[in-house]
Amino acid sequence: MAIFIDTGNIAEIRKFMKMGILRGVTTNPSILLKDGLTGGLPEIKKRTLEIAKLIHPYPLSVEVTTNDKDKMLEQARNLASWTDNIAVKITIHGPEGEMHNLEVIHTLEHQFNIRVNVTAMMSAQQCLLAAFAGATYVSLFCGRVNNMGYNCIDELRKTRKLLDQFNLKSKIIAASTREVLNVVEWFEAGAHIVTILPPLLEGMLVHPYSKETVKQFLRDAQKSEQIAIRKSAEEIIEMPIESLKNDSVSVRL
Ligand code: G3P
Repeated sequence: MAIFIDTGNIAEIRKFMKMGILRGVTTNPSILLKDGLTGGLPEIKKRTLEIAKLIHPYPLSVEVTTNDKDKMLEQARNLASWTDNIAVKITIHGPEGEMHNLEVIHTLEHQFNIRVNVTAMMSAQQCLLAAFAGATYVSLFCGRVNNMGYNCIDELRKTRKLLDQFNLKSKIIAASTREVLNVVEWFEAGAHIVTILPPLLEGMLVHPYSKETVKQFLRDAQKSEQIAIRKSAEEIIEMPIESLKNDSVSVRL
């Protein structure tokens, strides 16, 4: 099981990488735009290389920006050539349900040995087909599934069961986090990986009662130090004048 971070923000990635808790990063065009990236592929390349270096050898998922079959194949091969820790993200089908994406996914994995993260999936059945096509990662958009009124926990359980049953290599990435609670629940339901938004990672870590407890420890540590200082001060005050004189003589010597 592993935690990925769902962002293109370098400072956030660096912060959590230093803590040793991340095993990968996922991005998509919407995330990059939200993180202030404009300028198309040349800018995507710059940001990608920066992130990929920062997290190496862990994988960075980068999405193609076209749904034209040939262009998708060409762009995916180009993205994968930038550095060795890139997984190319391809959506399960096109905007109008075009089905050639699976063919592209299969070709990339089997002919070109490129890791593919199949994305924008909402059901176990989509994940199963992506896994049969050879995907390294199958990304189930759990938050969006829940938004549609379904329970993504069921889809996660079914997906994991099917992958295990058919002995398929794909790893499930539970994506589209909405609440801190999602992470543990989705792991419990069978996700191999959960990709998390930075604020939710912080929410997992920081607990109000832990804060209160730490404050108590620090307060008491300080109190105990002050008591010790006060005690030694009192001992000095109570010392006979003669012994203090001797001390000062021996110090001078
Ligand atoms: O990793 C996929 C994720 O970024 C989609 O999330 O919040 O747009 O549903 P969201």
